[in-house]
Amino acid sequence: MKKDLLTFKDWNAEDLAGLIGLAESIKTTPAKYADVLKGKSIAAIFEKPSLRTRVSFDVGINKLGGHMVYLDVQSGKLAGREDAKDTAANLACWTDGIVARVFSHQTLVEFSEAADIPVINALCDLYHPCQAIADFLTLKETFGSLDNLTLAYVGDGNNVTHSLMIMGAILGVNVVSVTPEGYEVDQSIFSLCTTLAKASGAKITQSSDISAAKGANVLYADTWLSMGDETPLEKIKAIFDPYKVDEAMMKLTGATHVMHCQPAHRDLEISGTLIDSEASLLMQQAENRMHGQNAILTHLFESNS
Ligand code: CP
Ligand code: NVA
Repeated sequence: MKKDLLTFKDWNAEDLAGLIGLAESIKTTPAKYADVLKGKSIAAIFEKPSLRTRVSFDVGINKLGGHMVYLDVQSGKLAGREDAKDTAANLACWTDGIVARVFSHQTLVEFSEAADIPVINALCDLYHPCQAIADFLTLKETFGSLDNLTLAYVGDGNNVTHSLMIMGAILGVNVVSVTPEGYEVDQSIFSLCTTLAKASGAKITQSSDISAAKGANVLYADTWLSMGDETPLEKIKAIFDPYKVDEAMMKLTGATHVMHCQPAHRDLEISGTLIDSEASLLMQQAENRMHGQNAILTHLFESNS
């Protein structure tokens, strides 16, 4: 049966740790993986803008010996012309895999059902698994291991928070989500994560109180308004201002490092000086996007072949 990578929810700790190990191997010995996608073409559909995901997939697929076809549906050239499942079934006639950034997770489910080739989630409304694999690789590189780590996510409970929480719960990394009231993570995903954490021993918690992040090794920020959310910044700014990740919050919590999936808005959700500081892991995360994704591609194409 063909495999996809939509969420990581159904992975176990051993396989997930193995995938991070594969990403480390690809990063250090890329020549060994130069033919993984030899002769293969991957379609990349983006319903939303992207810098990191688009470029890291394009360059990464090239490094694995494959070829990426970029489909921009933001301009409306493809969107609405036909049903998502027909788009996917057609793509499967010529290409060997689909990378998709979509508004609704349901579109990925439809792609997966219609196409007999691997489908990879490049961000949807609920998840960003390609970001999470890069981030946990970054944590492992920074701290030497994932044991006894606590990551505090501070800001809007969103797709990135969900994927960090799922991966932490499976791998045994404590994740605390600190969000303003009314901006919490999806409670069914939170509940799933607390269940997943029973096997790993991770502590998965949520709070609206910044002091819940005390003792965390890392603070993690993301935009207060995700792509597609048309809420004017002025409407939410006062609510989110106390949740800005800055030097004062680093001091209060004792965190040694700061992470952000980017794009970052300097001096809104994170202080610009913190991005530029020694504590910042942002560019290491960005670099690791490609290695994490190439591990996913290698895993999917090895197990699908
Ligand atoms: N972090 C991330 O997914 O960045 P892009 O939106 O630029 O792809
Ligand atoms: N939560 C953000 C992540 C961007 C990479 C968004 O969905 O826009």
